[in-house]
Amino acid sequence: MATPTIYVSPTSAHISASLNHLITRLSATSISRSNKFTVAISGGSLPKILAADLKSNTTIDFTKWHVFFADERVVPIDHDDSNFKAAKETLFAHVPIPREQIYTVEPSLSHDKAAEEYTQQLKKVFGADGIPQFDLILLGMGPDGHTCSLFPGHPLLEVEDRWVASLDDSPKPPPQRITLTYPVVNNAETVAFVATGEGKAEVLHKIFDLKEDFPSGRVTAKKNLLWFVDEPAMKGVQFQTKS
Ligand code: 6PG
Repeated sequence: MATPTIYVSPTSAHISASLNHLITRLSATSISRSNKFTVAISGGSLPKILAADLKSNTTIDFTKWHVFFADERVVPIDHDDSNFKAAKETLFAHVPIPREQIYTVEPSLSHDKAAEEYTQQLKKVFGADGIPQFDLILLGMGPDGHTCSLFPGHPLLEVEDRWVASLDDSPKPPPQRITLTYPVVNNAETVAFVATGEGKAEVLHKIFDLKEDFPSGRVTAKKNLLWFVDEPAMKGVQFQTKS
């Protein structure tokens, strides 16, 4: 299990540059090892920060990428609430990831069936045996400490028997979502959180200094657990960081 490394940047533009460097390295390593790079991305503010530099990176072989969503809203892929739509507009429209290697939720299904169907899509890429191991999972964190669609106090925090779970009572709208579960998130080789803004400072203090239990604090990784935060998000946080 990895211990977290927290990188503090003055602005989210610096975080974009750091993510670009990290992903360039991880993508090349994975492609030379397995001829593909498997990545899961979240919604919220992450796609914009992620794409700012990455979208013009010409050194990455994006044709070898396989992209899943760490969580997704059960809405049509062109809906304003769709995490796919946000990632498409910011990143996918600018880089040559084959569309069939971007795995989207099936909005015509109920949320629980959509989670089952998304599990089948994972099996096609990772095989049916053993828990999928992403090369990289990119996560955001809400001010309540949630990550993916794993919310404080929600029964999905305890799920161990599924790779993908569904909910229809998300406290953050829209209510119907699917989410990767801890067995998959914590099996990733690298997990990178991105948290920016003063609104994240209180929960970061509670997670790292007071060791209080929040969904984001339960995330581990097989090799690297990284947090990319800006200075406002670290206001009042004492935990040892790198800059
Ligand atoms: C979602 C997201 C969610 C997000 C956090 C942080 O679909 O709602 O995946 O988990 O990452 O809420 O969002 P911000 O970065 O916008 O604060």
